[in-house]
Amino acid sequence: MRPGTPWPEVECVEYSVGFRDDVRVEFDAASVSLATPASTFAVRLPAGGTRDALAALAGGLVPLGETLDGFEPAERERFQRLLARLGRLVEFGVAVGGRELIRLQQTGQDTDPATTVVGPDDVVRLSRFALCRSRSGTLVLESPLASARALLVHRTARTLVYSLAAGRRVGDLAEQDGGDLALPEVCALLGVLVGAGLVECRSAGEEFETEENSTLRQWDFHDLLFHSRIRSGRHDAPLGGTFPHRGEIAPRPAVKAVPDGPSIELYRPALEEITGRDPGLTAALEGRRSFRSYGEQPLTAEQIGEFLYRVGRVRTRFVPAPDDEPGGEIVSRPYPTGGSSFELELYLTVQRCDGIDPGIYYYDPVAHRLVLVNDAHQDRRAMLEVASVSTAREADPDLLITMTSRFQRLSWKYSGMAYATTLRHTGVLYQTMYLVATAMGLAPCGLGIGNSDMSARVLGLDYLQESSVGDFILGSRPPGDPGIWDREQGWEWVNDPEWAAWAGAKLRRA
Ligand SMILES: Cc1cc2nc3c(=O)[nH]c(=O)nc-3n(C[C@H](O)[C@H](O)[C@H](O)COP(=O)(O)O)c2cc1C
Repeated sequence: MRPGTPWPEVECVEYSVGFRDDVRVEFDAASVSLATPASTFAVRLPAGGTRDALAALAGGLVPLGETLDGFEPAERERFQRLLARLGRLVEFGVAVGGRELIRLQQTGQDTDPATTVVGPDDVVRLSRFALCRSRSGTLVLESPLASARALLVHRTARTLVYSLAAGRRVGDLAEQDGGDLALPEVCALLGVLVGAGLVECRSAGEEFETEENSTLRQWDFHDLLFHSRIRSGRHDAPLGGTFPHRGEIAPRPAVKAVPDGPSIELYRPALEEITGRDPGLTAALEGRRSFRSYGEQPLTAEQIGEFLYRVGRVRTRFVPAPDDEPGGEIVSRPYPTGGSSFELELYLTVQRCDGIDPGIYYYDPVAHRLVLVNDAHQDRRAMLEVASVSTAREADPDLLITMTSRFQRLSWKYSGMAYATTLRHTGVLYQTMYLVATAMGLAPCGLGIGNSDMSARVLGLDYLQESSVGDFILGSRPPGDPGIWDREQGWEWVNDPEWAAWAGAKLRRA
């Protein structure tokens, strides 16, 4: 195995090149304009060989070798530079033994695919991060570690990939498993796939990089794929506020239709009352802690009403002009969200509250009331059990707040990053809850593990339309200091211990 030969110059492989299917090419006297569904790109191109070659690419794949051979050296270099700049707009057919086996489409923005020289004694395997899926009617191989996507256009390529679930000696793959590639052809095709980062290769007796490299070992398959897809740079899919479903599917409303059920009007705090006793932002930030034990007195209905009003109520509504922002009405709540989507909903599993019966409720953020959605004892227990397990059974909370996301409210507008955005909103809401709970002298704790499937059933939701993305527990604050920064437990102050002491005293007085 020898790495790093820049492609496309590889022995035994012939390349062809053409524009991708979704690129519209238009020529005028001095330039060529290349448009994809996401962007338009214009190149100034006077008449000459490069312009003629580019015009040929618009008609389908053309042999790259022949095209380059027809150029003077300077023109050849110019055309190659242009191809490199076109990057994601072109695709390369890879023919081995005279048959086009795969097509390569550059996926990263700043990548330079290279082929690797693979020998018969090397061991190959599909990358631990590769995935095989159907895309526009073709089986494709992709990976967040790869510089290119491989379209498996020929059965022979599909057969080879099928053989790579476990590590195989390259020499054993020639004319094996129903494949019909001779050894030099297997080596050549694998060289392209290894160079693109889709297949892993190791010398006999060594480890694959994804098993040996401590950084890669600590990436889960789905985490790295997610990371690569929710920001620009590593992929060629649309990203951002592209409104992909506009005109075809109605947008989800800013405010969810309230479920049927008996409702409870919640206490509405008076502004003067809160400002009169509020400890202030710095005290709430500096004194904020997570609690997993609670006072003898339960939470009160008044506290739950104040908490929800300060954290999650709808404050205002606004209907933008359609040319200004499609999607209809937007609202505002006390915490921020991307595009004012406010797709998160709150459900309360009440275990112990003075003034509200145990049960599972939906929080109506407009009317500021609770609506009972489930009063089954065993469902309540099941929800609280998952929350308690998340704290290693330390907490038996008065109240569990389940945050759900109405996913399509975001994905109607955002391509590629809708789910990432809802998780960001969940974090924003966690901190808002922590700060309000701290300012109110309550005992808050965010949770990291919830059961979305079970909560969808218990809350009467369709998992794919609305399911849980976060959980938060709340109770009355236990007396005394929980002492988690206790020196005796090993905590050492790094900066300004007096800030915490000041905040603690201020919160106790509030
Ligand atoms: C997103 C998030 C998830 C959390 N998940 C859990 C959890 O599952 N169980 C738990 O006991 N605490 C959880 N916590 C609380 C953290 O353990 C706590 O914030 C951290 O130890 C720092 O302590 P402090 O909040 O008292 O400053 C979570 C906090 C956040 C923000």
